[in-house]
Amino acid sequence: MSFKEKINPAKLPQHVAIIMDGNGRWAKQKGKFRIFGHTNGVKAVRDAVEGAAEAGIKYLTLYAFSTENWNRPKLEVNALMELLVNTIHKETETLMKNNIRLVAIGDLENLPKKCYKELQEAISKTSGNSRMTLNLALNYSSRWEIVAAVKKIASQIKSGELEPEDIDESKFVSQLCTSDMPDPELLIRTSGEHRISNFLMWQISYSELYFTEKLWPDFRREDLFEALVNFQSRERRFGMTSEQLESK
Ligand code: IPE
Ligand code: IPE
Ligand code: MG
Repeated sequence: MSFKEKINPAKLPQHVAIIMDGNGRWAKQKGKFRIFGHTNGVKAVRDAVEGAAEAGIKYLTLYAFSTENWNRPKLEVNALMELLVNTIHKETETLMKNNIRLVAIGDLENLPKKCYKELQEAISKTSGNSRMTLNLALNYSSRWEIVAAVKKIASQIKSGELEPEDIDESKFVSQLCTSDMPDPELLIRTSGEHRISNFLMWQISYSELYFTEKLWPDFRREDLFEALVNFQSRERRFGMTSEQLESK
């Protein structure tokens, strides 16, 4: 039985987030430059996106570039930005065909102009699609997002729009980039690293974490389905006891 057949459609997560890691090591294993790994990572992106839509996932967030990734060699950063522009351009058609809406989170205005423009075009072109939302985390980091949210709240207080006593979790969440999405129930990281790397730290408070040794360019929809089946075998207690959950 394939993993796809084992998925229980009644217990699907609404939102899956993926830290796509291991492109550089994948290329190194093949005696190639790191950029070769990034180029091959695009196939995995396409397959994961189609697989997620096929499984019935409503939101898929992909960590594509962190604010810390600017610290990589200039050649690699430039190649990644170029790849991003070309991929968004080429894949818009596929997104339309699959009825997938593209959105993005992160410090988008500080992306290279060409990249920002291509992204905005794809976002507006696909804005009416409804099967799944593909959310790209670009120039994103969780600490950046949280500080930006705090700044917005502080300025609302300064202008008298908001009282400090009125700050609660929902007020805070409304200032995050993901305010119009549910939190991811499942977070996947490839490449065998067991860390969060500044990704969605508020939003994953109660996410199930799934780590796989597969390097990102080798990741395919069957791997996503395997993660979904694994997710469905877990008991999510949210601080309660098993007995309480059973009696619900
Ligand atoms: C993930 O692969 C892609 C990005 C972070 C842009 P890496 O480039 O981090 O690959 P490794 O982790 O060095 O193998
Ligand atoms: C996290 O991967 C960022 C993305 C996948 C875009 P990194 O490869 O940059 O993370 P670290 O440096 O291993 O923590
Ligand atoms: Mg990495």
